[in-house]
Amino acid sequence: MRTKGNEKAESWDKIYREGKPGWDINKPAPPFEDLFQNKHDWLKTASLISFGCGGGHDANFFAQQGFDVTAVDFASEAIKLAKNNYPELKLIQKNILELSPDYDQQFDYVLEHTCFCAVPIEHRRSYMESAHNLLKADGYLFGLFYRFDPPDQDGPPYALSMEELEKAYEGLFTLEDNYIPKRSHGRRKQRERFILLKKI
Ligand SMILES: C[S@@+](CC[C@H](N)C(=O)[O-])C[C@H]1O[C@@H](n2cnc3c(N)ncnc32)[C@H](O)[C@@H]1O
Repeated sequence: MRTKGNEKAESWDKIYREGKPGWDINKPAPPFEDLFQNKHDWLKTASLISFGCGGGHDANFFAQQGFDVTAVDFASEAIKLAKNNYPELKLIQKNILELSPDYDQQFDYVLEHTCFCAVPIEHRRSYMESAHNLLKADGYLFGLFYRFDPPDQDGPPYALSMEELEKAYEGLFTLEDNYIPKRSHGRRKQRERFILLKKI
């Protein structure tokens, strides 16, 4: 049976099995490292869930900073890779759109990095609803949203605009920050945005 947004778990597995996936930069995203160069009132070591964690580099980085991290991915090969990379990481193999109600209000932060662009466009609202359900009151969804390109139908990664993103989180979150990071990796330069959303 095909479940919501789960159409392509097997396709992701296939890419992982074929070798090094193109998106895996084998280290945390530089803009996440840069976050810790300055003090941010909204950022405190607390519980965090990493959506579509892949090889787990970002999740591990936040764990090293003192966060209580849970990393989730629906591809068994991603979970295997993350476990191999970081045996101590808390991992869940599950569809991010199906974590509610089991994990409702358990996290202070939801971390995004090239997962939103992997979710079929018709499930973008469900992604936001899921993040909203998992967060505690006053929690934050933050991270690197990709790829801000002129509209096209090709994906994943699916292109998005600020208007489309706003439509997806309308009524669930307020926009607290939005900028183009200085140190994006490779072809992501100018095509990803750091976005901070606060749960309403
Ligand atoms: C482009 S990769 C990014 C991986 C990682 N965030 C990184 O930056 O290296 C997208 C990841 O999201 C996972 N993914 C896509 N849709 C998902 C869903 N509905 N639930 C859980 N994981 C999902 C894929 O299996 C894949 O590992």
